[in-house]
Amino acid sequence: MSRGATRYVCSACGASSAKWQGQCPHCSAWNTLTESAPLGPAGAAGRSRSGLAPAAEVTALSEVQADRLARLSSGIEEFDRVLGGGLVDGGVVLIGGDPGIGKSTLLLQALAALARDARALYVSGEESVGQVALRAQRLGIDARTLPQLLIASEIDLDRIVAAVERERPRVVVVDSIQTLYAPQLGSAPGSVSQVRECAAALTRLAKQSGVVLVLVGHVTKEGALAGPRVLEHMVDTVLYFEGDSHSSFRLVRAIKNRYGAVNEIGVFAMTDRGLRGVANPSALFLSQRGLDPRSALVPGSCVLATQEGTRPLLVEIQALVDAAHVPNPRRLCVGLEPQRLAMLLAVLSRHAGVVTFDQDVFVNAVGGVRIEEPAADLAVLLAVSSSLRDRPLDRGLVAYGEVGLAGEVRPAPRGQERLREAAKLGFSKAVIPRANAPRQPTEGLEIIAVERVEEALAVLRSG
Ligand code: TYD
Ligand code: MG
Repeated sequence: MSRGATRYVCSACGASSAKWQGQCPHCSAWNTLTESAPLGPAGAAGRSRSGLAPAAEVTALSEVQADRLARLSSGIEEFDRVLGGGLVDGGVVLIGGDPGIGKSTLLLQALAALARDARALYVSGEESVGQVALRAQRLGIDARTLPQLLIASEIDLDRIVAAVERERPRVVVVDSIQTLYAPQLGSAPGSVSQVRECAAALTRLAKQSGVVLVLVGHVTKEGALAGPRVLEHMVDTVLYFEGDSHSSFRLVRAIKNRYGAVNEIGVFAMTDRGLRGVANPSALFLSQRGLDPRSALVPGSCVLATQEGTRPLLVEIQALVDAAHVPNPRRLCVGLEPQRLAMLLAVLSRHAGVVTFDQDVFVNAVGGVRIEEPAADLAVLLAVSSSLRDRPLDRGLVAYGEVGLAGEVRPAPRGQERLREAAKLGFSKAVIPRANAPRQPTEGLEIIAVERVEEALAVLRSG
């Protein structure tokens, strides 16, 4: 490759090509090649692989002292929970999510809480310092009492690095990585090479200086983090902000965490004074449903006892099954796996004789949660059959359990905790896999342990 030639870099896989093409020759993604300036002599491509370079230092593992993880609380309990107990010195966190979901709000709130005992720097590439101050005011942050809370509006990478080196904060938030710009690269902010270079430089800075770095990342319209995939590999922790823009619930989910468990979630509600942690999310997700015995029972609703990380969570699953007037009936899932629904409908037809080939089926996990675990199967099946038969389920009923292709109901992890959460919230009946049946009875909860889908559907007939 001649130096100075323009390269075309794929924004999906990061591979580079010499000429522009509609489809990336490496990962076959369409319309992902974007022009990228070549790296100068200082860049990786220009460096010679000389045999004269000093060898890297190598140590026996036994002689290395393991780093003690000093956790720094972000000051927001739900945020600490997703982080696995708090921020870690020298750790790099990447947080992605749709525009307007609350990334900047959450991070500004966290920094304000942190700044009570540590120096914290908020670098915005999207807003002026005046706008940040206005947001802080709106969030009820009393800046006069927080001299350690520093803000900057800057997109030049070198100037940000210099500011961090001069101010020596404990925590730095960069909002967002896509707005940063390394002048020596020449390509536009947000391009693959810029995002990669800026993230790499900031990560190096964090590792060397021990500053905690939080990067905000934009997402593509498919919901993945924009920019090169390598971004997610580079950082220690990847968090996603989820939520339905029409409801006030917001979930922060860990996708990758070198310092803690993944699939922990933090639950927030967006209020007029910023995000507030929700300590009892089940109550929140069920709030519209109401356990109130006077409210009308509707067919097609079943409460699922799911598990998010270490936390049990009750979520209402709604289904609507209606006669299809088109040759291909529709299957639509909100917050659940569409493939899984197709499979469940096949199991339902084959093993329980419940036929839906001429019906549209819509399924929704209420409250904007996304449920990925297979233990949601039983609740989905019950909701679908309830809607199809137009018979409501018992008000106090919860369900969980994975359904296999042979119609068997398989156990789910942490069954006891799910039951305890259900009992705590006043549920009185639980349809669960036989293998999960507790030895001791749970107070106030009737257990219906089932081995097959047919048995589970019997609750609809008897209920
Ligand atoms: P923001 O944090 O700017 O989103 P992001 O950085 O992820 O793009 O969130 C902005 C949204 O949150 C905006 O639509 C208004 C709303 N909001 C509130 O409801 N209450 C508040 O106190 C604040 C600051 C914002
Ligand atoms: Mg923002």
